Amino acid sequence: MVQIKLEKIRPITKQTQLLVLGLFEGESELLFKTLGNDLSPVLKEVVENGEFTGTFGSNYLLPTFGKIGPKRIMLTGLGKKEKYSKEYARIVAGKISLRVQELGLGEFSLVPFSVLDEDLAEAIFEGICLSTYKFSNYKSVSSKLPELSDVTILVDTDDPSIQAVFDKSTLIVNAVTFSRDLCNLPPNDCPPAELARVSMALANDYNLKVRVIEHYEMESLGLNGIISVGKGSSNQPKLIILEYHGASGNNKPYLFVGKAVTFDTGGISLKPGEKMDEMKFDKCGGCCVLAVIRAAAALHLPLNIVAIVPSVENMPSGSSYRPGDIIRMYNGKTVEVANTDAEGRIILADSLAFGIKTYDPKAIIDVATLTGAAIIALGANVAAAISNNTSFMDKLKKASEKTGEKLWELPLYEEYHDQIKSNVADIKNIGGRQGGAITAAAFLANFVAEKPWIHLDIAGTAWTQDGTYERSYIPKGATGYGVRTLVKFLREAGSAEN
Ligand code: BES
Ligand code: MN
Ligand code: ZN
Repeated sequence: MVQIKLEKIRPITKQTQLLVLGLFEGESELLFKTLGNDLSPVLKEVVENGEFTGTFGSNYLLPTFGKIGPKRIMLTGLGKKEKYSKEYARIVAGKISLRVQELGLGEFSLVPFSVLDEDLAEAIFEGICLSTYKFSNYKSVSSKLPELSDVTILVDTDDPSIQAVFDKSTLIVNAVTFSRDLCNLPPNDCPPAELARVSMALANDYNLKVRVIEHYEMESLGLNGIISVGKGSSNQPKLIILEYHGASGNNKPYLFVGKAVTFDTGGISLKPGEKMDEMKFDKCGGCCVLAVIRAAAALHLPLNIVAIVPSVENMPSGSSYRPGDIIRMYNGKTVEVANTDAEGRIILADSLAFGIKTYDPKAIIDVATLTGAAIIALGANVAAAISNNTSFMDKLKKASEKTGEKLWELPLYEEYHDQIKSNVADIKNIGGRQGGAITAAAFLANFVAEKPWIHLDIAGTAWTQDGTYERSYIPKGATGYGVRTLVKFLREAGSAEN
């Protein structure tokens, strides 16, 4: 990964391949001040001639002919000052890194876009590291471009809090990368057993407690939802459980549950062939949750956390579960299978009930690529959030505003439960076309007892797809959506409780 460090030095004297300077539209004075007199005549000409105006995302490269420390200068447009936000900074930082890579440079120095507070430092750090992510494990010939390896952020004070932000951001970005790498794995190389293996390695590296519940044990425990969905595949289902203990034993844990369907064909209710390959990303919720507990452990958060990841492959075969089947779930409720493609809610339901019974959590968040309906409702850039607890939800919303990972709350009125009533069982697993993201949550609500709970449907945001906005720091494929927001949420919870 890119190494990012701070250096207290005048930009003009820094020996670097490239000095990057941001310019807000119509605010050139600020820029000239940073540079002092040595170079401002040249820059003034560029700016005053209107050759470079500072439009968001634009850039302008000029050589310095050995007159100053930096070999080249790149002006970068920051857009209108009123529109500027941390998310813009993240995007610009990402664009800069990508441009530097295109130029074939391995290193650059950057003057922060405005006063370098902790939030800006985090945004710049994330933009640089997340944009240069590449999933290239399967390319026989790697790209010719040299990797961007070093970035220096030039500052005028030595504020130790900024270095601390970088240190923590490193751990968080590593977790996002871990999540992306895992999600991007093709389904032939990532059956449930592989996720279990990765989880055990994670437990070893981060000193977590791990338990993988195998098929035979699921039978004796009555985890019949997971068993049913997994029946059609020759790859056995696994229920992965990780525990992180960062607080005293009587401190109730936060429970995270993540859907990890390593491939979703739809089962007997087979999906159409078009874009079915994207259903390798149906494990993103589980990968997210694994990355969250990894980051929490790396950050030594003063909390207890449990991550539960039910992992199955949803396949059609002679041994598959069928439409019409009735499953007696872990918590005793019966579910009529109306459609085998609504499998995510079934494995989550057992996991939620099992997690509550076993760990008596203080609050629960489940993360899942659960419904196409969530994409219809909110598009491919906003996750759907549904909760039974307003103050809990408000905290998650605050965290998401800071990370730029957009989410929007959908309601869970009592009436939605009518849509999943079954004639033959307690409930059925689909609720019709209307409000599909919500009826999926209504289904889950049957398994969360009365615990504070948030359901996060990341079907639109977990990977780049039709309708995904171009954003520099989100390369094609798995996005790692949710990791930064959930970690942000936990960090706030950790400081509030201690
Ligand atoms: N994994 C899918 C949801 C999905 C679909 C995510 C498309 C991203 C893109 C889920 O298991 C599923 O198939 N859901 C069905 C539910 C339906 C049968 C009620 C869906 O959304 O079509
Ligand atoms: Mn499905
Ligand atoms: Zn699915």
